[in-house]
Amino acid sequence: MTEIILKDVRKAYGDVEVIHGIDLSIDSGKFVVFVGPSGCGKSTLLRIIAGLEGVTSGDVVIDGDVVNEQPASERGLAMVFQSYALYPHMSVYKNMAFGLENSKMRREEIDRRVNDAASMLQITPYLKRRPKALSGGQRQRVAIGRAIVRDPKAFLFDEPLSNLDAELRVAMRKELASLHAKLGGTMIYVTHDQVEAMTLANTIVVLNAGRIEQVGAPLDLYNRPQNTFVAGFIGSPRMNLVDAAAEASDGRIELVTGPQRIAISSSIRITRSDKITFGARPEHIEIVDEKDADITATVDLSEQLGGETYLYCTPDGMPQLTVHQLGQLPVQRGQEVHLRFDRASMHLFDGDGKVIANGIPQ
Ligand SMILES: Nc1ncnc2c1ncn2[C@@H]1O[C@H](COP(=O)(O)OP(=O)(O)OP(=O)(O)O)[C@@H](O)[C@H]1O
Ligand SMILES: [Mg+2]
Repeated sequence: MTEIILKDVRKAYGDVEVIHGIDLSIDSGKFVVFVGPSGCGKSTLLRIIAGLEGVTSGDVVIDGDVVNEQPASERGLAMVFQSYALYPHMSVYKNMAFGLENSKMRREEIDRRVNDAASMLQITPYLKRRPKALSGGQRQRVAIGRAIVRDPKAFLFDEPLSNLDAELRVAMRKELASLHAKLGGTMIYVTHDQVEAMTLANTIVVLNAGRIEQVGAPLDLYNRPQNTFVAGFIGSPRMNLVDAAAEASDGRIELVTGPQRIAISSSIRITRSDKITFGARPEHIEIVDEKDADITATVDLSEQLGGETYLYCTPDGMPQLTVHQLGQLPVQRGQEVHLRFDRASMHLFDGDGKVIANGIPQ
């Protein structure tokens, strides 16, 4: 079992710092997922942990030891990349056994490990084949098998499923979850995929431009984003975020955006009222009767998926809102709908994008 700690880790390429002081503690046996926009430093951070990149300052600590000076080969971690990088001229068996043979492990032990991993990953029938005679998903499993046989202290995955088609991704995602349950090892996993992050992670780390925005359990980030970045990043389709001013009126607070005024409970303390942002996820906007509505909007697009419906609709003087409803909704483009924001699931952020409230009393 392996614990990994990053202490004020910084990384610069020449004069350009790309990782700006990361503090992070990854508990033993946890599945931790790094998410964030392209270029935010996910791969760099993973490579720093693996030992493929040095730090400019700060410490990488594995099981209590500072490993900054330790080369990748001595850290005992296994990395699985997006491009599986299998040796094309070797059989599947040989691809998995190769690293162990180089370390002079006994033949019977190598054989046992390769066969165990192959059976766990259901690639036993392909052990004699070359990688080119495998499907993408089978190749990816060989790459994971090659990591498993090394019995690493931790697994590092950099977007391992992003080359696979949608159906295979779902299948492999389930396999990874059960693999973690079986092996119980520490896993760090980089992905762009919301569903992968939400379903695989014990903990999600949201990165933005070389900094951590928030660390938490998936639903914690979903329910209690600490800033507009996390609010907009976690969840698909994304949370509706609307800039507004807050005005006191009649013992209520009114959120004013264009000609629209949305009254909320005055129990929320808003200090700087000129510029705030309110947020509502698509599933937290209800279609109601006019008398109960906060706003009325015109439907720009209605996506009928059968089991669920997405409406893209624009209230007068406001940006377009995405509304999600379960089931089928006979609403068409150009029609008017009356909308209400579910107060208990509404989010408020200040002018700097920091959270004021996750959920507002009725
Ligand atoms: N060898 C390098 N030299 C200079 N800059 C680099 C180098 N490697 C990465 N960078 C820069 O560091 C930043 C972080 O890159 P990184 O590859 O970690 O991003 P990422 O979050 O993995 O992005 P993606 O989602 O696109 O894979 C980027 O701005 C990138 O241009
Ligand atoms: Mg990357």
